[in-house]
Amino acid sequence: MTLPQPATLLGGISPERFLREYWQKKPLLVRQAFPELENPLSPDELAGLALEEEVESRIVLTEGATPWELRRGPFGEDDFKTLPEQDWTLLVQAVDQFVPEVAELMKAFSFLPSWRLDDVMVSYAAPGGSVGPHYDNYDVFLLQSHGRRRWKIGQHCDDQSPLLEHPDLRILKDFVEEQEWVLEPGDVLYIPPGIAHYGIAEDECMTCSVGFRAPSHGEILLHFTDYLSQSLTDQSRYGDNGLQLPADPAAIDDETVERLQRIILERVQDKAALATWFGRHMTEPRYPELIQPLDISSDILTDDLESGYGLVRNPSARLAYRREADEQLVLFASGEHCVLPPSLLPLVQLVCNNDYLDSDTILAWRSNAEGWTLIEQLLAKGDLLLEGDDE
Ligand code: SIN
Ligand code: CO
Repeated sequence: MTLPQPATLLGGISPERFLREYWQKKPLLVRQAFPELENPLSPDELAGLALEEEVESRIVLTEGATPWELRRGPFGEDDFKTLPEQDWTLLVQAVDQFVPEVAELMKAFSFLPSWRLDDVMVSYAAPGGSVGPHYDNYDVFLLQSHGRRRWKIGQHCDDQSPLLEHPDLRILKDFVEEQEWVLEPGDVLYIPPGIAHYGIAEDECMTCSVGFRAPSHGEILLHFTDYLSQSLTDQSRYGDNGLQLPADPAAIDDETVERLQRIILERVQDKAALATWFGRHMTEPRYPELIQPLDISSDILTDDLESGYGLVRNPSARLAYRREADEQLVLFASGEHCVLPPSLLPLVQLVCNNDYLDSDTILAWRSNAEGWTLIEQLLAKGDLLLEGDDE
């Protein structure tokens, strides 16, 4: 399948205009965004994935034992046999990790930062199937890959929006419909965070949801300060040199609070540490167990490359990089980082932006000791795989 160029995917709107007018702001419907779409997996293949232990899957029944009944996978074959003819949806998370054809879809979104992309959830719905009116905290591109689904778009929501009492699902109590479309295979609907949406299968259908990573402020503070604190010693401690005689020994005065504030502000102002933490956090893999270390000698690697085998990016690996103002280069690879000489920028860009590196491209780095070490380290960690060895 040929992937659409951004202009096609965005319905003739340039990526710049999309970012200015739609991204994080308002929904966009694009008819035939993927004009050459081939459904990347069949309903049976999706159901097969939902049987697997390591795959996260759910079934939502509109009217099950209770309204909007949620069943959690992994499922057994019999679970599917007993489902009704209609009004249920199977949802499988991070299908891109298991089906290369689904991972391929993500490449069409390369006009957005790759570290913002999270996963592709794929749903299969029997006629009438729906997960109810809801909003997500993430941007999502909903790609209709099979059959037809009616999408209704509603109001702006936030954590004050009333929800139905439900132990597991966040279904809106009120849905104020503003627009409605029936999506056909190849159509895409972009929905920014916080916009209510309600999809109902017109007939048996499948939807691929390309979702984005966005840590909450709580997560940012919690994880960044946790990261910072790992480099602090016990000697760095609250101190009150110059303490004034307290008016009341039981009172915590303003000076005390200001001393604390200074400690926190000084620490969190470390921009380099913030960037390092962020790169590590945004490249944390969803399934670390799918990134297995590889023990390979430099000679065998060279032999394999000289035989024409290339290197494949592990589909579970996440890579990004940052150039510091002082010309330092930091590579982030699946939740870890390493500082590199700036001369390795072309190699880092190659590795971060390609899922396949041919043998000649890699062998060109054979004579660069630092570059070659980086390639070996990425293979040793399992972020890169030798072609033919990636099963
Ligand atoms: C679905 O595919 O049924 C739900 C996707 C979504 O609303 O985010
Ligand atoms: Co949603």
